[in-house]
Amino acid sequence: MLKAVIFDLDGVITDSAAYHYAAWKVLADRMNIPFDKSYNEKLKGVSRMESLNLILDNAKGRDAYPESMKEELATEKNEIYKEMIKAITKKDLLPGIEELLKDCKKRNIKVALASASKNAPEIIKRLEIGHYFDYMADASSIKRSKPYPDIFLNCAENLNEDPAECCGIEDSEAGIDAINAAGMVSIGVGSTEKMKKADLILKGTEELSLDPIIKMLTA
Ligand code: BG6
Ligand code: MG
Repeated sequence: MLKAVIFDLDGVITDSAAYHYAAWKVLADRMNIPFDKSYNEKLKGVSRMESLNLILDNAKGRDAYPESMKEELATEKNEIYKEMIKAITKKDLLPGIEELLKDCKKRNIKVALASASKNAPEIIKRLEIGHYFDYMADASSIKRSKPYPDIFLNCAENLNEDPAECCGIEDSEAGIDAINAAGMVSIGVGSTEKMKKADLILKGTEELSLDPIIKMLTA
């Protein structure tokens, strides 16, 4: 049986992935580091510091910068990002998300958030969807970030559910790897190429619905 649906945030619930890219782009341009949307795919789902490291690999390499400078750069990006997400309102929920959240509640299926973002609580508040969640993982307390399964396992544990009866929804390759490694059903939203390891691939969030997921678990 399907007992819980565990959501990624950035790029699944709302298009904040675009703001992450835009904020990193401001920093990369200022530092004259080549950075484009295609390279940005690698940053999806990974932590703030690992994202910065991946960008610095395009310049002198991650080890060429002192830790203190990296902290400052990561903070600079986060300040830009925090300004950008002030624009987020309930209208920015991606299509089909609130319907899916409501359907989970109606069918007594638990809902959790597995976002690597320390800004997740602020975005959830802006989207006015906090009341749907039975549990939200705290990104700062998770040791290993995606593609490790830790954040998804932390959600299952706190929901008191068997990972085999949970599904995870992701838009990044690192995220799909994390769900699969947690032993959950993986739903990938996005291009088939990127999502090829997902158990179920959907073109967009408007295609999300519980029945095909339940079917996969009972097959
Ligand atoms: C993930 C995003 O959800 O959160 C990554 O996909 C981001 O792009 C990561 O780097 C960390 O986010 P934040 O808001 O803590 O910098
Ligand atoms: Mg994402």
